[in-house]
Amino acid sequence: MKIIVRKISIPDLPHLIKISRQTFAETFAEVNSEQDMQKYLSENLSENQLRSELENQDSEFYFAENENEILGYLKLNFGKAQTENQGNQSIEVERIYVLKEFLRMKIGQLLMEKSLEIAKEKNAEFIWLGVWEENERAIKFYEKNGFEIFGKHDFILGTDHQTDLLMKLNLRNNI
Ligand SMILES: CC(C)(COP(=O)(O)OP(=O)(O)OC[C@H]1O[C@@H](n2cnc3c(N)ncnc32)[C@H](O)[C@@H]1OP(=O)(O)O)[C@@H](O)C(=O)NCCC(=O)NCCS
Repeated sequence: MKIIVRKISIPDLPHLIKISRQTFAETFAEVNSEQDMQKYLSENLSENQLRSELENQDSEFYFAENENEILGYLKLNFGKAQTENQGNQSIEVERIYVLKEFLRMKIGQLLMEKSLEIAKEKNAEFIWLGVWEENERAIKFYEKNGFEIFGKHDFILGTDHQTDLLMKLNLRNNI
């Protein structure tokens, strides 16, 4: 496979909706109620919501593709688009998802390397993210990439209040 990571824009919206919903369902359907999943999908991954996120100048989306087949995607937030105020020197990895069929094939790694490349270009101090405390696979992936836990915040999936761990990777040696 020759996988490329490509920044996407509005014409890619239908594909973004599809992969966002599919990867979310594959990751979380087994461990959450049908009702909570539907509520989250219709509110947070609706066409209107994803369009406005794609149009936000402070966010960027990327697809990992193999000959036009989309295998995974990444959403980065800068400045005010960050879901929690961490200042202007940081970048948030809000979403990093690989289709179930292609897990553990270093596609997540390629998307993470893209995040690091962008963060360095922007001279960010650190990259941060929130991850569900029970998502052990993702936590291992982030730890492998040098992220460390620095806090917690609440995350509501449908009606279920869950805890996200906040993890960060410093990009400058002196902090
Ligand atoms: C987290 C995720 C993006 C990782 O992507 P991936 O392409 O499967 O992972 P990679 O093949 O790039 O793995 C890189 C390294 O991460 C670690 N890792 C990845 N998956 C792992 C697992 N299931 N168990 C333990 N370590 C794992 C390993 O150290 C791995 O290196 P190795 O294979 O040489 O041991 C992927 O599991 C995913 O999409 N999960 C579902 C969505 C999700 O939970 N996203 C995060 C929401 S916060």
